[in-house]
Amino acid sequence: MTKATIVLATRNAGKVSELADALRAYGLDVLGLDAFPQVGEIEETGTTFEENALLKARAVAEATGHVAVADDSGLEVDALERRPGVYSARYSDDTPDLPGDTRDARNNAKLLLELDGVPAERRTARFRCVMAACTPDGRHVVAEGAWEGHIALAPEGDNGFGYDPLFIDPQSGLHSAQLSRDEKNARSHRGKALRRLLELWPAFWRG
Ligand code: IMP
Repeated sequence: MTKATIVLATRNAGKVSELADALRAYGLDVLGLDAFPQVGEIEETGTTFEENALLKARAVAEATGHVAVADDSGLEVDALERRPGVYSARYSDDTPDLPGDTRDARNNAKLLLELDGVPAERRTARFRCVMAACTPDGRHVVAEGAWEGHIALAPEGDNGFGYDPLFIDPQSGLHSAQLSRDEKNARSHRGKALRRLLELWPAFWRG
């Protein structure tokens, strides 16, 4: 490896800035996929968060020749046999008539519908995140984080994205969308996975 450049396997500017801040502390130059327009869409064909994170990191490392970092995340709801899981982003794509102007709003509407009649004590759920780093020659490291909570009866809060308005953090009793970015990072699946990745990073980087 000649140049200490890390490529994040995302075009989401928010994700790039969050991860870039953390990895810069290790003296690494961090770029998003926008810097590599030749890398096309990578289909998330895996059936687990780990498979998807690894396939994205591997594809980007091979295509760019740099170490790549990818994440995959989603919501597991116990009463729904851990759905939507890896399909969290696409959960409502099969039911486009649900109320809501955005995919996130329709996903939340579908979740409430599927949990209709399920009492509070059976609405347990968790967000999961897996982060994977991969070298162009295929060496990799995987870090995981989970955030246990439960699904509310109605949405609350304006922050965050995805299922944040419906996910209740048991520690504060607040919906994830009511937490500040720092509060969420301190307890979230993504925050935990990132901190774990950074613990594993020095050994991975040394090879
Ligand atoms: P991905 O990891 O970008 O593929 O995201 C998967 C999907 O999981 C997102 O589109 C959201 O629907 C959901 N998700 C993952 N993390 C969060 C979170 O922190 N808050 C709310 N929804 C999330």
